[in-house]
Amino acid sequence: MKRVAFFLLFMAVTVSFILISWNRARADSEYAGSEACKDCHEAYYKDFAKSIHGKKTVPGSPANREGCESCHGPGAQHIEKGGGRGVAIIVFGRKTDPNARDSKCLACHGEARGLPFWNLSKHKSAQIACDNCHSIHAAVQGKGFLKTYEPDLCFGCHRNIRAQTNKQSHHPIREGKIKCSSCHNSMGTTSKGMIRADSVNELCYKCHAEKRGPYAFEHMPVPENCLNCHEIHGSNHSGLLVRKVPLLCQSCHNDGGHPGNPYTNLHSFSGPATSGKNRFFGRSCLNCHGNIHGSSLSQSFVR
Ligand code: HEC
Ligand code: HEC
Ligand code: HEC
Ligand code: HEC
Ligand code: HEC
Ligand code: HEC
Ligand code: HEC
Ligand code: HEC
Ligand code: HEC
Ligand code: HEC
Repeated sequence: MKRVAFFLLFMAVTVSFILISWNRARADSEYAGSEACKDCHEAYYKDFAKSIHGKKTVPGSPANREGCESCHGPGAQHIEKGGGRGVAIIVFGRKTDPNARDSKCLACHGEARGLPFWNLSKHKSAQIACDNCHSIHAAVQGKGFLKTYEPDLCFGCHRNIRAQTNKQSHHPIREGKIKCSSCHNSMGTTSKGMIRADSVNELCYKCHAEKRGPYAFEHMPVPENCLNCHEIHGSNHSGLLVRKVPLLCQSCHNDGGHPGNPYTNLHSFSGPATSGKNRFFGRSCLNCHGNIHGSSLSQSFVR
């Protein structure tokens, strides 16, 4: 026992000694200024100067602060030692703890600059860091310093969502009409699923305003939650439905004024195939209950 305790103490002392001296090395280093990096990292210097971070005209930009060193930390020692990998400079990527990487960005992009909910983001809790999605030096064209364009950026990790968007009926994400970010904020929101609205329905109404009504006769599951009947990313049933009609309707209705299961019930829409019965082909219940999201004319949402 004693031996183990001694060994642990020894390790603790050694580790803290290393940490202290490493920290001192960092603290001792001083800011050298971006110009000092230029000679050895010309390509990085040039694209930095072109980007929004490199613009003196943008208030609060790295160019107006410590330049390269706003993100990479003081670089005087790195330069003194002739530069090199692992030489007194902060790097991004897997080698560095995600929180340490984020803190460099959050020094400027915290609450004051539009990312108030990063702490609530599922990405943060899953140890995904800013530079998993953003690249400062090798970003794709366009706004936002993204590593790759959407949706490929997101599909890289969310394979199940990719599979959903390949289904027969889907939101036009692959077609480029809307993006994952049209509905989600990867940097966190106060709502479930990091959506850009207080509730699912409020999100849907942003683009499908007509479904909000007001209707004199509401179909209860609609204002409650669109997802009672719809998938979001993709479905094998038309209209992004969770089930096909009539099964969808029958999952909630089995004791209406006419039975909910007339396929099997001879007493419902029975008779020759030319009468009401064949209304169940094609759009099924929707042949008659066409205004399924609500109606101001019919309590039964019939057209
Ligand atoms: C005297 C030349 C020189 C100067 C000046 C210099 N560097 Fe470096 N730096 C290097 C070399 C060489 C490497 C190794 C690059 C490689 O192996 O591809 C390097 C690597 C780096 C790396 C990656 C470190 C790693 O551990 O992978 C960063 C980040 C970096 N430099 C930033 C800076 C910044 C910021 C400045 C200005 C404050 C700067 N450098 C100034 C020569 C220099
Ligand atoms: C010294 C302050 C500072 C630091 C550090 C900083 N940024 Fe920025 N960043 C800005 C400013 C200023 C802007 C431009 C105005 C704005 O969008 O608020 C900006 C813009 C952006 C934009 C939007 C670009 C666009 O095209 O609209 C992204 C994305 C971004 N930064 C990501 C990052 C990431 C990731 C990090 C860390 C690796 C980081 N920033 C570090 C100050 C900073
Ligand atoms: C999971 C991927 C992902 C992560 C992690 C991520 N971002 Fe973003 N970020 C995006 C996408 C995608 C956009 C573009 C949104 C758009 O097109 O409107 C964006 C946009 C931004 C913007 C532009 C302003 C805005 O709100 O749209 C800033 C600034 C930014 N990110 C900073 C950060 C910082 C700082 C971190 C880390 C604390 C971070 N991001 C982490 C994906 C991510
Ligand atoms: C806004 C934050 C930010 C600023 C400012 C910035 N960098 Fe970087 N740098 C990063 C990030 C993040 C990476 C990781 C790769 C990427 O995102 O492109 C990186 C990567 C690098 C690398 C490659 C390290 C490696 O692992 O090979 C070098 C070298 C480098 N930066 C030098 C510079 C120089 C020189 C400047 C100034 C001219 C500068 N950086 C300004 C954030 C920044
Ligand atoms: C580097 C990998 C990675 C990338 C890239 C990435 N994500 Fe994520 N994302 C995760 C992980 C890990 C989680 C947490 C575990 C989970 O729910 O799958 C997560 C969670 C989420 C959640 C929340 C899930 C919930 O249950 O609340 C949403 C929404 C999301 N990501 C959207 C996006 C979008 C949109 C993009 C592209 C802009 C993106 N992600 C890019 C890894 C990633
Ligand atoms: C039309 C709006 C919309 C679009 C576009 C969208 N989502 Fe979603 N997403 C949602 C809603 C709504 C939820 C469910 C939130 C909840 O659980 O209440 C969700 C849930 C998620 C979840 C967590 C639950 C799950 O199914 O795993 C992930 C991860 C996710 N989305 C990723 C993505 C990615 C990646 C993209 C782009 C390919 C994307 N979303 C595009 C609206 C959207
Ligand atoms: C950012 C805008 C946007 C948001 C938010 C949005 N949608 Fe959509 N939705 C679209 C677009 C664009 C289409 C395709 C319309 C077209 O092609 O005519 C669509 C189509 C649909 C369709 C028909 C699909 C088909 O195959 O016929 C349904 C159902 C749908 N959305 C439901 C929803 C639900 C439920 C929500 C909330 C979770 C929602 N939408 C949120 C933009 C959006
Ligand atoms: C009771 C089930 C149910 C609920 C709840 C529901 N829908 Fe629907 N929705 C349907 C059916 C059934 C269709 C028709 C599908 C078809 O034509 O194949 C449809 C079609 C749609 C369409 C495409 C056709 C059109 O009418 O524009 C959109 C968009 C849509 N719904 C949005 C929404 C939104 C937004 C909500 C929430 C406010 C919602 N739905 C809630 C059952 C529902
Ligand atoms: C998630 C459950 C759910 C689904 C799915 C659903 N409904 Fe409803 N529906 C309700 C509820 C709850 C009411 C209101 C309570 C009631 O009167 O039974 C209602 C009311 C109705 C009414 C009016 C009843 C009346 O008394 O006037 C009709 C007609 C109707 N639904 C038809 C349909 C059709 C057709 C479908 C399939 C496209 C469908 N419903 C899918 C839950 C659902
Ligand atoms: C041939 C046309 C037609 C078809 C097909 C049809 N309905 Fe109806 N349904 C009606 C009419 C008309 C009413 C209104 C009866 C009334 O107001 O007395 C009604 C009423 C209802 C009601 C309300 C009953 C009540 O208690 O007042 C429900 C629930 C309902 N239908 C569900 C369904 C479901 C589920 C399907 C598909 C399995 C379906 N209907 C198919 C014409 C149809």
